[in-house]
Amino acid sequence: MNIAVIGTGYVGLVTGTCFAETGNEVICVDIDEQKVARMRNGEVPIYEPGLEVLFERNTRQGRLSFTTDLAEAVEHADILFLALPTPPGEDGSADLSYILGVADQLGGLIRSYKVIVDKSTVPVGTAEKVHAMMAAKLDESLFDVVSNPEFLREGVAVDDFLKPDRVVIGTNSERAQKAMRQLYEPFVRQGNPILMMDERSAEMTKYAANSYLATRISFMNEIANLCEMVGADVDMVRRGMGSDSRIGKRFLFPGVGYGGSCFPKDVQALAMTAEEYAYDFRILKSVMNVNDRQRLRLVDKIKARFGDDLTGKTFALWGLAFKPNTDDIREAPAVYTINELLKAGASIRAFDPEAMENIRAIYGDRVTLVADQYEALIGADALAIATEWSVFRTPSFEVMKELLKEPIVFDGRNLYDLEQMEEEGFQYESIGRTVVG
Ligand SMILES: NC(=O)c1ccc[n+]([C@@H]2O[C@H](COP(=O)([O-])OP(=O)(O)OC[C@H]3O[C@@H](n4cnc5c(N)ncnc54)[C@H](O)[C@@H]3O)[C@@H](O)[C@H]2O)c1
Repeated sequence: MNIAVIGTGYVGLVTGTCFAETGNEVICVDIDEQKVARMRNGEVPIYEPGLEVLFERNTRQGRLSFTTDLAEAVEHADILFLALPTPPGEDGSADLSYILGVADQLGGLIRSYKVIVDKSTVPVGTAEKVHAMMAAKLDESLFDVVSNPEFLREGVAVDDFLKPDRVVIGTNSERAQKAMRQLYEPFVRQGNPILMMDERSAEMTKYAANSYLATRISFMNEIANLCEMVGADVDMVRRGMGSDSRIGKRFLFPGVGYGGSCFPKDVQALAMTAEEYAYDFRILKSVMNVNDRQRLRLVDKIKARFGDDLTGKTFALWGLAFKPNTDDIREAPAVYTINELLKAGASIRAFDPEAMENIRAIYGDRVTLVADQYEALIGADALAIATEWSVFRTPSFEVMKELLKEPIVFDGRNLYDLEQMEEEGFQYESIGRTVVG
């Protein structure tokens, strides 16, 4: 099939590459000329495990190409995916200007039947808005609008896309349903469902899924904070809970709050939808409040030990990405930690396996970025850990003790065993567990 993907970010590039991998002809459009030039040169502009191999194969074999020209993509494609940003607007609701702007342009460009697919995360009613925008310029028989939310996770995006738990397709048009089913069949050969529904339900499914996962995280963070007070170990509690098949093991890890480009904005956008309908969605409000507090948890612990004024103190920071295996720092707990530490007068020596360039772009030389995790410790008063990259899991505690001024670790991801830290002679504070030392 001939596909176009409009917006070639984390979602768009993975979507385009994976559709090319199943034999489709894919053209990816982006307004960022530099990005398009890099991709045309064979460069993958984001870090996403497994993407480079597929990108290379499909560009070499001519199934995956890039352009800044929307008209060229419309000419080429029968199905056009919108993988555009939907950032929070000033009031927290999703900003639809990218989506509706492109819908308006498409209305002026389309000459034969096309399926327009909302891949972006968009509030209930957006498919209808896209339809109305296009219908202002275009005969309605020339297009259908489908809601097809994306559930991939950064860091395992390629795997998630190639083997989705489910594919959600929202449209009442039989013609569009048929095209979408044909496109997705190769991805669900193991029997995972393609769920056909109306547009509004598809749009709501995405927000409900992300908000529920965020709720689990905030819930566990509250349990962890209480564990610290009552002397329970949240790691044990988590295992005890997660073994219950009604609950399940995943998304029960406490930490320094959820971050990334999706959960914070999606929870907020759903809360705004509720507000629009005058519905008091109390759980969502609490989920956000808990997260606002939790992402400052490491700094609170640091200040409790070192005082509110951190002038003259240096902290090593391991992990900058909002989670492992990505270079994405949008809404990363590490960013909140950095801001608060800098505000309190501290210096920071930071390391991340992939996200340092993105941090440099924001902070310049206000944060010292170093080439490896141990270098960050040199002369630091303590270490703070904000992301659970594998490379931090079994470090040399000997080297750490040698390089840190004092063996003090604030661990926002519960990476280490309490007994071991005690034996090694660390002062160790984690989330929802006893303080060591
Ligand atoms: N990142 C994720 O893990 C994830 C997962 C599921 C859903 N989503 C949703 O998918 C959507 C896209 O997210 P993302 O993380 O890929 O965003 P992104 O910011 O990484 O990428 C968006 C791309 O769109 C391009 N763009 C902006 N305006 C354009 C225009 N008019 N024409 C062509 N290109 C344009 C930008 O240059 C950028 O490359 C969002 O709605 C997001 O909520 C994201």
